[in-house]
Amino acid sequence: MILPKLPASLAYGGDYNPEQWPESVWREDARLMREAGVNLVSVGIFSWAKLQPAEKRYDFGWLDRVMDLLADHGVHVCLATATASPPPWMSKKHPDVLPVDANGVTLYPGSRQHYSPCSPSYRRLAAALVRRIALRYRRHPALAAWHVNNEYACHLPECHGEATTRAFRVWLKRRYRTLEALNVAWGTAFWSQVYYAWDEIFTPRRAPYHCNPTQQLDYRRFYSDAMFELYRREKDILNELAPGVPVTTNFMGFFKTLDYRRWAEEVDFVAWDSYPDPLPGLEPERVGAVGHDLMRSLKKDRPFVLMEQASSAVNWRATNGPKAPGRMRLGSLQTVARGGDGVMFFQWRASKAGAEKFHSGMVPHVEPAQSRVFAEIKRLGADLKTLAPVAGSLVHARVAIAFDWHAWWAVELESKPGRIDYSGWAQELHRFFYTRNIAVDFVAPGAPLDEYALVVAPALYLLAKADADNLSAFVAKGGTLLATYFSGIVDEHEHIVLGGYPAWLRAVLGLWVEEWAPCAEGQENLVRFAGARGPVFKASHWCDVVHLEGAKALATFAGDYFAGRAALTEYAHGRGRAFYLGTRLERAGLDRVISTVCASAGVEPVLATPAGVEATLRERDGHAFLFLLNHRDEAVRVKLGHKRGIDLLARKPVRGAVSLPPREIAVVALEPGT
Ligand code: GLA
Ligand code: GLA
Repeated sequence: MILPKLPASLAYGGDYNPEQWPESVWREDARLMREAGVNLVSVGIFSWAKLQPAEKRYDFGWLDRVMDLLADHGVHVCLATATASPPPWMSKKHPDVLPVDANGVTLYPGSRQHYSPCSPSYRRLAAALVRRIALRYRRHPALAAWHVNNEYACHLPECHGEATTRAFRVWLKRRYRTLEALNVAWGTAFWSQVYYAWDEIFTPRRAPYHCNPTQQLDYRRFYSDAMFELYRREKDILNELAPGVPVTTNFMGFFKTLDYRRWAEEVDFVAWDSYPDPLPGLEPERVGAVGHDLMRSLKKDRPFVLMEQASSAVNWRATNGPKAPGRMRLGSLQTVARGGDGVMFFQWRASKAGAEKFHSGMVPHVEPAQSRVFAEIKRLGADLKTLAPVAGSLVHARVAIAFDWHAWWAVELESKPGRIDYSGWAQELHRFFYTRNIAVDFVAPGAPLDEYALVVAPALYLLAKADADNLSAFVAKGGTLLATYFSGIVDEHEHIVLGGYPAWLRAVLGLWVEEWAPCAEGQENLVRFAGARGPVFKASHWCDVVHLEGAKALATFAGDYFAGRAALTEYAHGRGRAFYLGTRLERAGLDRVISTVCASAGVEPVLATPAGVEATLRERDGHAFLFLLNHRDEAVRVKLGHKRGIDLLARKPVRGAVSLPPREIAVVALEPGT
């Protein structure tokens, strides 16, 4: 149970910003929330300026009234600590609050998130505010959880101000202890970069040419930690003053700046914000699914909450398409299908003023009674109530994608053989499993892997020795590994592991790579699968020049000076098998590769369904719930095989097959043993 105040139910609601509205609107809000089945709202995320008009003056009167009103209407609150947007008076009085970019440009107030993570003033004033909020509301009947800050680092991928520079040096001292160790780790013999005093070191500010890559990598680590430190300071205060009240902050899926795996250890449940682009052809359902899978995997032992999504259009893309009828409900229930116990929106009532006034809300600008969106919001609220039995159940995966923020940071630094879109490549591999209804977790390369039959390692460029050993041991014990090009190239300091790439994976893969032939945009090679009639697929992005040392070639390149050399290999290592894909194939080719690998690993789908129909399974103490989501604009019939049970939404027994109208969903509580 992730929210003790909402036992055995799914959370439903959104960001609620009553400070943007006169009090006369609040009553109507509370009434409409009830009508829509809302049971949880995030209050006050951007209300610091209203809560604290001056350094020595606070005003909680309005928030008291909001909290009481919500409690009276049975709506619980995920109460914000309100530290996401400091009031303008603060940076006027304490200019150290303001962040500085790599060019030395100060970022000013007038928007939001204009704070340096290392600013002493920001830290002090944020802590004081959190303390007051915690003391005032910790026993309030409406309080269900704490919402710390908001989307840390969303608009602020770096800061290079004075305080941040000093904090970077402290972080480095803690990591390396001596300058000698730092100089070795950073490889500073290169380009005359040797440091003789700590204060010679800066954050990687704008420089004439490439900054030292290890300096940049350590800066990414430091910056993620600096933001995390802010979160932890708030969390510690909340835990001290309000023990037992769950604490979280909203993540953003594949967000490069923050190592969410580390952060997830310190949230009581994972919450995240998902905004797939609904414009035609952009596969919002797949984009949503892969984000849910990454976020769910951060805390595998409990459900997550979708903290924000849009009821229809957003305001921040060049073209902001609406969600067509039924799409918002379908996407919302996909959240539940993939392990979510809460569906929330940004925001409850669409703003009248400010930069987000064209962002959809649960309550739009038009009269709710005349609104398509509000009608769908009400229907979704009813559905989520019906689906309460699903709460607490989990998704179990036998496939894992090894995905690591440090590898992401490192592989996308400049001065590489070619450009690698790390998360894009991981998501492209995930696509196969999504479309085949095979559950996938994203795991750290060093995580326990016993529960998995198959581990996929896409471009796992940076790989510590212990993590390489972990992957090798997984195979030796009987697991199946699929690694791709540019994996295992550097150690944690971003130094090449010498001895034939990827040196630490050479034994498990049964091959070594001599050199790389990355492809320019539009440049292609061909890959031919073995056998007289072996199919041929286009290859792009990258080609490895491979030497086999035991591995067998399943497919070879057809072009360039390495024609005839292996592009896809298989090797038996210990009790398991390791496959290696030294290029990126067009989709049909990739599907063939992963099908082969899945067959070898004995990985099966939850259910074979027609294209465009997603099937997932959630399980809890002997109960299993089969979700079927029809993403197509036409009706489909899904054969159930031996599975049967009760469709909770339609409230009727199903067996044999289920007919799903366009964009419809069935949630089948399966009869045990089927
Ligand atoms: C993010 C923020 C919200 C809002 C939405 C708009 O998720 O957390 O405050 O700006 O984006 O889509
Ligand atoms: C220039 C520089 C060298 C080296 C090469 C790399 O020639 O003088 O130091 O950086 O480029 O191509």
